[in-house]
Amino acid sequence: MDLLNTAYQTTSAFMDSIPKKERKKYGQFFTPQKTAEFMASLFSTDFSKHDELRLLDAGAGTGLLTVALVERIRSCGYQGNITTICYENDLNVLPVLRENLERLGKKSNVTYEIHTDNYLTSQSFVQKGLYKKELRPFDLVIGNPPYLKISKDTPEAKAMAEICHGAPNLYFLFWAMGIHNLKRGGELVYIIPRSWTSGAYFERFRRFLFRYCVITNIHLFRSRDKVFDGESVLQETMIIKVKKTDFPPQYINISSSTTSDFHDINSIDIDYDTVVSPNQFVFPVTSIEEAQILSRVNRQTNTLEKDNLRMRTGLIVDFRTRDVLRDDEVSGACPLFYSHHIKNGRIHWPVGKEAEYIVTDNDGYLQENSDYLFVKRFTSKEEKRRLQCGIYLKKEFSQYKYISTQNKINFIKCDSPELAYGLYVLLNSTLYDSYYRILNGSTQVNSTEINLMPVPSKEAISQMGKELIGMDLSEKNCDNIIDRWIK
Ligand SMILES: C[S@@+](CC[C@H](N)C(=O)[O-])C[C@H]1O[C@@H](n2cnc3c(N)ncnc32)[C@H](O)[C@@H]1O
Repeated sequence: MDLLNTAYQTTSAFMDSIPKKERKKYGQFFTPQKTAEFMASLFSTDFSKHDELRLLDAGAGTGLLTVALVERIRSCGYQGNITTICYENDLNVLPVLRENLERLGKKSNVTYEIHTDNYLTSQSFVQKGLYKKELRPFDLVIGNPPYLKISKDTPEAKAMAEICHGAPNLYFLFWAMGIHNLKRGGELVYIIPRSWTSGAYFERFRRFLFRYCVITNIHLFRSRDKVFDGESVLQETMIIKVKKTDFPPQYINISSSTTSDFHDINSIDIDYDTVVSPNQFVFPVTSIEEAQILSRVNRQTNTLEKDNLRMRTGLIVDFRTRDVLRDDEVSGACPLFYSHHIKNGRIHWPVGKEAEYIVTDNDGYLQENSDYLFVKRFTSKEEKRRLQCGIYLKKEFSQYKYISTQNKINFIKCDSPELAYGLYVLLNSTLYDSYYRILNGSTQVNSTEINLMPVPSKEAISQMGKELIGMDLSEKNCDNIIDRWIK
């Protein structure tokens, strides 16, 4: 039996010996054998140019990834010295790790070290810590980091504060430390969740990532629950390879498979600038059609934020403000809009449901009666469109000075009906709905992301709106207008 197979058997035996609930506390999920082999195969370093190779596997578990990588390097005929360092701080798994590395050391002539201290706090990150360890940098880093949200007051989060925004997840702290430990020109391959590719929460991390690295490969798993054998990890998972260099490749290779047995893998090369946008969002596209959508949108040079057309979230959390909500129109009441009032591009209010009015003198609960575009914040996976909008025109509710919105609506305040129509054309088009789906895997419409999407100029959006006025508000009509304005 080869070493990787043996390592896999020992991993399965270990998994059976410790309850899943226990392992979950450390974010401990083990990489399936085929995935480990695939990850090892992604390194494209010319090993023969190195007298010595230094390997790092942080959060090594049973050492499966290290075994896969060393086997790959030796199978390429590399005869030089290999030193491998594994970090693992779970005492339960250490005997299995030791056993696997011992076997590997003997068979493949590898020098290994196991570090049982905390990978994130025992060494300094970016700024040098006085008493902290300085590791010699590594040529190759491989990893399946723990996936675990931690509080911002934990030593790990404090040690890496420059890349955190609120409570971080261990996986991207491990990733950032891996980059820190990488030599210039070195390569890192990690298996991670997909969540880091967009959104404000990961902005600092992405800035760090692209300050030091370029992306060369992405692998996506199309199924959410069949990546970690029997581990019921319900996460969108990807494999990423980055290189520590200032020079991006022309293309990023993006492959995908349904599950971790890779039986139906396919891959395409997509222009680097299409996958990594100027605002450092990452778009893991899987087809030429998706790439075309991206490049059409990414050619637009404005954003809603720049044009002072920020999308914001509705003001009212209804269960916290029961005392100001009313079922009937009483003196001084203002209309309160919910996402169920958005229908076929229009706002239908009132519809006879409870709490459609608000009576308050709290300014924070009210907004000016102006023209708006309303957008539902939540849609279900089954619904065809992610972006579902309604045009709110103040003239249709002219008896009110103020209105209010529940927090399951997002809104954009407009200074004319044309602009509200124009924003509707944009966000109700197939182009922007598809773009948003590629950007964000979740069903929630995140206003920070919408505000940073590339869009045409405000004038162009108003012109597009003028074209829609008087027509029906169908997606098809929006698409026809968009096709004339965005080539
Ligand atoms: C997701 S598991 C991956 C295990 C193995 N690399 C694999 O791919 O099968 C992550 C491992 O990181 C370890 N770990 C968690 N936090 C750690 C830390 N701060 N320092 C070192 N190891 C840690 C856990 O005990 C766990 O074994």
